[in-house]
Amino acid sequence: MKVVLVNGSPNEHGCTYTALEEAAGQLRENGVEAEIVWLGNKPINGCIACGGCFRARNGHCAFGENDGVNALIDKLEEADGVIFGSPVHFSSPAGNLISALDRIFYCAKPLAGKPGAAVLSCRRSGGTASFDVLNKYFTIAGMPIVSSKYWCVVHGRTPEQVKEDQEGMQIMRTLGRNMAWLVKCIEAGKQAGITYPALEPVVMTNFIR
Ligand SMILES: Cc1cc2nc3c(=O)[nH]c(=O)nc-3n(C[C@H](O)[C@H](O)[C@H](O)COP(=O)(O)O)c2cc1C
Repeated sequence: MKVVLVNGSPNEHGCTYTALEEAAGQLRENGVEAEIVWLGNKPINGCIACGGCFRARNGHCAFGENDGVNALIDKLEEADGVIFGSPVHFSSPAGNLISALDRIFYCAKPLAGKPGAAVLSCRRSGGTASFDVLNKYFTIAGMPIVSSKYWCVVHGRTPEQVKEDQEGMQIMRTLGRNMAWLVKCIEAGKQAGITYPALEPVVMTNFIR
């Protein structure tokens, strides 16, 4: 079993990484492989609404070969659970992560049934507003949300400060254990013949009709 943790910060080993690594440690201690994938610090285009993913129906973004988004889709689809981590930028998750997630969730349907969790790092505020934004991706995709003992936000401007946020670190460890527990429960369910429910054909009822 494997959980992929996406570090959506432009800093490879900054505060977000520090929070994710704390959760990853507990995943590993509980027998679940954990891989932190850095989104990088090069520009990632937002969705251009070209519809290429719908036409191709291959679960990939039409231009996702160029900026690593398709490679990330493949990694997420292979994972048993996913954690998205981001710094707070002006009370929202980092722009690059949002650009990638818009494209990933528009075309990658097989994420349904995989547990997801959001982790935020901020200096001072905007943590829960950003937490809400990331959780909305899971809740449009049939993904159970894994929670912790408090909203998953750490505070600091440097990794050292984040480590001083002892409650934040505990929240991350609890999240890691809870994620390990749920991916194991889902696996045990599959072994017992309990699989994710079949999806109905898509119905789209636009607001004006
Ligand atoms: C462009 C930008 C905007 C930011 N906006 C906020 C903010 O709205 N609220 C906040 O508390 N911190 C804000 N910060 C600080 C970062 O969220 C914080 O230092 C975070 O822990 C950095 O994580 P990282 O090291 O993984 O990048 C901002 C930082 C940057 C670069």
